[in-house]
Amino acid sequence: MDHFLYRDGALYAEDVPVAEIAAAVGTPFYVYSTATLIRHFALFDEALGFADHLVCFAMKSLSNQAVIKVLGDAGAGMDVVSAGEYLRARAAGIPGERIVFSGVGKTADEMRTALQGGIRQFNVESEPEMVVLDQVARSLGKVAPITVRVNPDVDAKTHAKIATGKSENKFGIPISRARDVYAMAAKMPGLKVIGIDVHIGSQLTELAPFEAAYKKVAELTEQLRADGHEISRLDLGGGLGIPYARSNEAPPLPTDYGKLIERTVGHLGCEIEIEPGRLISGNAGLMVSKVIYVKSGEDRDFLILDGAMNDLIRPAMYEAWHDIVPVVEPEPGDAPAKYDIVGPICESGDTFAKAREMPRVEPDDLVAFRSAGAYGAVMSSEYNSRPLIPEVLVDGNQFAVIRARPTYEEMIGRDTLPEWLS
Ligand code: LLP
Repeated sequence: MDHFLYRDGALYAEDVPVAEIAAAVGTPFYVYSTATLIRHFALFDEALGFADHLVCFAMKSLSNQAVIKVLGDAGAGMDVVSAGEYLRARAAGIPGERIVFSGVGKTADEMRTALQGGIRQFNVESEPEMVVLDQVARSLGKVAPITVRVNPDVDAKTHAKIATGKSENKFGIPISRARDVYAMAAKMPGLKVIGIDVHIGSQLTELAPFEAAYKKVAELTEQLRADGHEISRLDLGGGLGIPYARSNEAPPLPTDYGKLIERTVGHLGCEIEIEPGRLISGNAGLMVSKVIYVKSGEDRDFLILDGAMNDLIRPAMYEAWHDIVPVVEPEPGDAPAKYDIVGPICESGDTFAKAREMPRVEPDDLVAFRSAGAYGAVMSSEYNSRPLIPEVLVDGNQFAVIRARPTYEEMIGRDTLPEWLS
């Protein structure tokens, strides 16, 4: 559920008409709903009420500082994967003890930044990373709290590009080698083992793969404790999917996910962390775009929008479906039209949807891409020298630009000519 609903014939973001935002900031743009962000965070927070826990928002899904501040104020921690995300979280007021650092390729510099600034834990993904972290921590006179990310070899049954828990994926250490790796970590004075980490993929629409992975983590917890390690925290990753096509998808709810966690690892008495991104931010955002032309092809009509693959790459990259709806509510009896919905970029991959049935629209009409809050703005680029599009946050009846659209001068001015060319 979200807070983007039709009211009096027009699409609203909470209590603000989407068309009013478009008139103020121009198109295309992203708009986020504070109420939806908080509601989705609270669902996870309540679902883990049975244990000590921290819900760490996966910042990679949506990292604007205003969003991070909203979630931080609600009590969220952050899951970061780069020094940039770490510093962004800190700039948004998140204390280091609420930040976990994930990722397969942390550099020594990134480790230093996080250790000096304060960090809850590093989720270590390999032996070589462990060696470097131990050195960096000792050089700073610190001890780095760690979990080891294990790869449970479970099929997440999601798109191949976002599955991470099979043995052929680059993530984590094979669970079969875990005991040796923990023994190695225990000998390193710069590290303190505190738990286990697992994350099997994104946009999971069934609970069974989580269940299989968490059962393996529970078994491993007992083995590692028997080996003498203190395992007091389990980071169970993110990945719970959202409905993209409202008509026919119903992925599991956070409440049921929480019950599954309680059932599989609740008896171990560990503090629980999770790292959801998409379920918190996905349906909290729209991308709003304007129709430039409706063009008749030989056997189809093309809806050419001012938004493109550089603004929202998910359809081009993962064949992802986003519902695309007019900002003026269609009349009940209106016959639908069928369009290939495309952007202005010079490649055929710049296609949002093929043969999509939707209400008929005209040039200058606004359309909204639903479920665009996660992996939307953060994956955008300036391909074709199209400036990054603005982000807007709504809270009740107020809205504010939280990242402005750069001017052409700002975008072009970032290039510098070498002396020999000037
Ligand atoms: N934790 C780790 C270690 C991750 O790698 C990810 C996502 C998450 C948490 C958050 O997963 P979520 O709850 O958002 O599913 N760009 C792709 C998704 C990439 C996901 C990468 N890792 C997309 O647009 O579908």
